[in-house]
Amino acid sequence: MQAQPLFTPIELGGIELKNRIVMAPMTRSRAIGNVPNELMARYYGLRAAAGLIVAEGTSPSPNGLGYPRIPGIFSPAQVAGWRQVTQAVHAGAGRIFVQLMHTGRVGHPANLPPGARLLAPSAIAAPGEIWTDTQGMQPYPTPSAMSEADIAAAIEEFAQGCRNAIEAGFDGVELHGANGYLIDQFLNTASNQRDDRWGGSIENRIRFAVEVARAAAAAIGAHRVGMRISPYGVFNGMQPDADTDALYVRLAQELSDISLVYLHIVDHSSMGAPEVPMTIKTRLREVFKHRYILSGGYDAARANADLATGRCDLVAFGRPFIANPDLVERLRTGAPLKTPDERTFYTPGPEGYTEL
Ligand SMILES: Cc1cc2nc3c(=O)[nH]c(=O)nc-3n(C[C@H](O)[C@H](O)[C@H](O)COP(=O)(O)O)c2cc1C
Repeated sequence: MQAQPLFTPIELGGIELKNRIVMAPMTRSRAIGNVPNELMARYYGLRAAAGLIVAEGTSPSPNGLGYPRIPGIFSPAQVAGWRQVTQAVHAGAGRIFVQLMHTGRVGHPANLPPGARLLAPSAIAAPGEIWTDTQGMQPYPTPSAMSEADIAAAIEEFAQGCRNAIEAGFDGVELHGANGYLIDQFLNTASNQRDDRWGGSIENRIRFAVEVARAAAAAIGAHRVGMRISPYGVFNGMQPDADTDALYVRLAQELSDISLVYLHIVDHSSMGAPEVPMTIKTRLREVFKHRYILSGGYDAARANADLATGRCDLVAFGRPFIANPDLVERLRTGAPLKTPDERTFYTPGPEGYTEL
C-alpha cells in the first residue's frame, strides 16, 4: 500500500494530533433541553480515533439556539454536560474542539428559549421553512436587525463561549463562519444590507467575523481558535456576488494576522451545492499562514492526494463518520464504509447515532 499522509501526526496550536483526519462538525439534535448528555458523550467517545473531532454547532447564546435540541455552551448545566463529552474523548486519547454556532436569523421562536430573540444583521427573513418540535414546519420569521448593543453583546457571548469551552475541557473552539449562520449573515449581502460600519464594503462586512475572532483569541489564545467558512456557499439563502473572492481573501488575511490556529473550508458540492472553485481554495491556502483544513465529499484516496500535494494540512470527513464510528481504521485498511441513514440524522435517541 502507498504511503498515507492521512496517518502522519501533526501539531495544532501546541497539541499533537495523532492523524490528519478531522471529524467535521455535525448537528445531530440529541441535546434535549439544549444540554449535552451521556448519549452524546458515548457518541463522541466512540469516534476518539480521529486526529481532531469538531463537535457539532453549539450556541454561545440563548438567541443562537435556532434549531430544536441543539446544544448550548452558556449555562453551567451545559458546561457540565460538555465535560462528560470531552472526558470521553480524552479517555480515548482523542482531541476535541467545539463549533460555536450562533444561528442568527436561521431559527424560530418555537425553538428558542423564553426571552430569546431572533437576531440578524438586517431584518430579512431566510428563505424557506424550518422544523420546530411543537409546530412542525414553519416559514422563517423576519429577524430583528441587531443594534450596536446587540452586536457588542453577541461578540461577548462568543468570547464567553470560548472561556466556557475551555472550562468544559475542550482543546479549542471552531467559530462557525459558514453555512449562512450569524457570522456568515454579516459576510453576505443577501442577509446584510446595513449601511453602518457593519455592512456595505468588504471591510465592513468582515468586521463582525474579525471582531469575534479577536475576542475569541483574547479570551483563550489564538492557538485554540479556528474558523470555518463557506465561500460560494448557498445554504440558508446565502448568495455569492462579484466581491466574494476579494471578501474571503481579505478575511483570511485578517484571520491569519490574528494567528487563528486554522481555517476550515466548507464545500457542499458533493451534497448538490454549486462547486466551490479550486482557485479560491488555493488562494486562501496561500493567504492563510496557519493550518488549513479542506472538507466535503472526501474519501481516503482524495484526502491523501490533497495532503501529499500540499493543498491542505488536514481533511475533515462528515457523513462517513455517522455510520462508521471506526472510520479511521476503515480508512487505514481500505475496508468498505457503511452508508448513513438520513432519516436519523436529526432525530432524538440512540438510533442511527450510537446504535447503528
Ligand atoms: C447531519 C449533518 C449535520 C451537519 N451539521 C453541521 C454543523 O453543525 N456545522 C457545520 O459547519 N457543518 C455541518 N454539516 C456539514 C458537514 O460538516 C460537512 O461539511 C458535510 O457533511 C460535507 O462533508 P462530507 O461529504 O464528508 O459529509 C453537517 C452535515 C450533516 C450531514
